[in-house]
Amino acid sequence: DVPDRVRDMVAARQQQLATVGADPQALAEQLRQVFEEFTELRMHYQFGIDEVLTKVEILRKEFEQMHDYSPIEHVRTRLKSVESLVEKALRTEGEMTVRAIRERIHDIAGIRITCSFVSDAYWVAEMLAAQGDLEVLTVKDYIASPKANGYRSLHLIVRVPVYLSTHVEQVPVELQIRTIAMDFWASVEHKLSYKYERNLPPELRAELDDAARVADDLDARMERLRGEIRPMPVHEGS
Ligand code: GTP
Ligand code: MG
Repeated sequence: DVPDRVRDMVAARQQQLATVGADPQALAEQLRQVFEEFTELRMHYQFGIDEVLTKVEILRKEFEQMHDYSPIEHVRTRLKSVESLVEKALRTEGEMTVRAIRERIHDIAGIRITCSFVSDAYWVAEMLAAQGDLEVLTVKDYIASPKANGYRSLHLIVRVPVYLSTHVEQVPVELQIRTIAMDFWASVEHKLSYKYERNLPPELRAELDDAARVADDLDARMERLRGEIRPMPVHEGS
């Protein structure tokens, strides 16, 4: 059943639609259908996570076995709830059909990889991008070009084939690859933004800005130490 939160959003949207003369009843029906279809489809995105997670775990285990050092520190996965998917679908421009929503929302499936060093973040991204069955759809390099608020991270949308009983489905998965310092900063920023919504007090804003600089500096220092642990790998073909 459609949860209350989504029902409230539909109600709000319906009033809005009614004032412009559009059909609120049709929207309600569309949303009910989207909700139903995604409840089933969500599983495919979990499979997409499983496929990419296996790849990441293989790299991590291989490094741990074969070398004294792994570029991957930890890995976390996240599957968007149908509720927040419908919420985002309502927030973003476009049709309220499953097909259109799947085309415009690419973060239903997400994997976050944390590395010790900045160069490892790029290295892990390269190793995954080089795999023949992963197609890189987009890359957003917020490490080279941090967001205005100081957020740094490497974002890739990759597409992975999922073999189902009757067909193969190409599932987009959002990869966020970042250092421990970037991750620490982002998690604090996220909690603060959540708490204060758009009204972060200037003194906290300034603290966060400063913390972003400190995290950046720490990454630069650690990067210099990295050379002492293990030289950058030599890529051997394939
Ligand atoms: P959405 O925010 O998901 O709609 O993504 P987008 O299309 O604007 O893409 P972007 O790559 O900018 O952000 C994708 C994800 O990265 C977000 O959903 C967050 O998980 C994370 N992210 C982006 N910007 C920030 C930020 O300023 N702070 C934090 N903590 N996380 C961020
Ligand atoms: Mg997102």
